[in-house]
Amino acid sequence: MRRLRRTPALRRLAAETRISVDDVIAPLFVREGIDEPQPISSLPGVVQHTRDSLVKEVRRLSGLGVPAVILFGVPLRKDAEGSEAWNPDGIVQVALRELRDEVGDDVVLMADLCLDEYTDHGHCGVLTPTGDVDNDATIELYARVALAQARAGAAVVAPSGMMDGQVGAIRGALDDAGYRDTAVLAYAAKYASALYGPFRDAVDVSIVGGGDRKGYQQDPANAREALAEVDLDLAEGADMVMVKPALAYLDVIAAVRASVDVPVAAYHVSGEYSMIKAAAERGWIDGTAVALEHLLAIKRAGADMILTYLAGELAETLHG
Ligand code: PBG
Repeated sequence: MRRLRRTPALRRLAAETRISVDDVIAPLFVREGIDEPQPISSLPGVVQHTRDSLVKEVRRLSGLGVPAVILFGVPLRKDAEGSEAWNPDGIVQVALRELRDEVGDDVVLMADLCLDEYTDHGHCGVLTPTGDVDNDATIELYARVALAQARAGAAVVAPSGMMDGQVGAIRGALDDAGYRDTAVLAYAAKYASALYGPFRDAVDVSIVGGGDRKGYQQDPANAREALAEVDLDLAEGADMVMVKPALAYLDVIAAVRASVDVPVAAYHVSGEYSMIKAAAERGWIDGTAVALEHLLAIKRAGADMILTYLAGELAETLHG
C-alpha cells in the first residue's frame, strides 16, 4: 500500500477527496446600530459586522473565490414575535439590498431564516400562553421572513428553526409571490447540540429561563430520524439539505448522501471552530492543519458544501 504514498505528487494524484474554495459558504454576522465591527470573544477572528464592514468582507471573500455567504442579523430591537425578521428595513434586509447592489450574482447571497435572533425570549418561534413553541403560528411568520429576504435579494433562504412544515410554508409563499427562482436550503437534520454556544454569543441570544431547543431540534441519539426529516423537506420543496453540526454527525452526512441526489450541505458550527482556535492558541495543535483535516473529513463523509467560519482562511491557505 505504501507505493502510492511516497511523494506529494503521488499522494495528490491518488487522493479520493479534495477540498476547494468552491466548497465553502461563509457565515457572516451583521449588527444593527454599531459604528465599528465588534469582536466575538468566543469566536476568535469572527466579528459582528457593521453594514459597511460587511460589504467590504463580502468583496474580499469574493476576491478570494468564495462562492457564497450566509447572513445572520443582530437587530437593535427584539420582541415576542421577532418582527424585525420580516421588517423590510430590518438589518438583514438592508444588508441584502446593499450586497445585491455591490456584488450582484458574483456571490450567492444566502439568508438564515429563523426568529431566535429577533425574539426577546430567544426561541426560534412564537410561544403559546403556556410557553411552548407554537409550530403552526411560527411557520406563518417564517413565510413572511422568506418573502422579505427574497424581496431584498436573497438568492437562497435557509430555514433553521426545525418547525414541522416550514419548508412547505416558505416554498408556497415564495411561489405565490412570484419568487420561483429563490432556492431553499433546508437545515433538515439539525441537532440540539451543545456546539452552538459561541454562535449564541455572536447573535446575543440567550433562551429565557435557561431553556433549550430540545423540543424542536433533533436528539443527538437519532440518525434514522434525520433521513425522515430530509425526506419531508424534499417533499415540501427543498432544493438542498443540510446536516448540522458536522464532525459529530459524519455518519448522518454519509447516510443522507447515500439516500438523496440533491446537494448536501454540512455546517461546521461555532463550537467546532472555537475548539480548533482555542487549542491552537495554546500551541496544543496545529490549527491550520486540523482545520483542513476537519473540512476534508466532512467532504469525505459526503457533503458537497460546507458552511464554515474557516472559509476566508481556507481560501487564503489554498491560494497561498
Ligand atoms: C438558529 C441557528 C443557530 C445556528 C445557526 N442557526 C443556533 C441555534 O440553533 O441555537 C448555530 C450555528 C453555529 O453554532 O455556528 N438561527
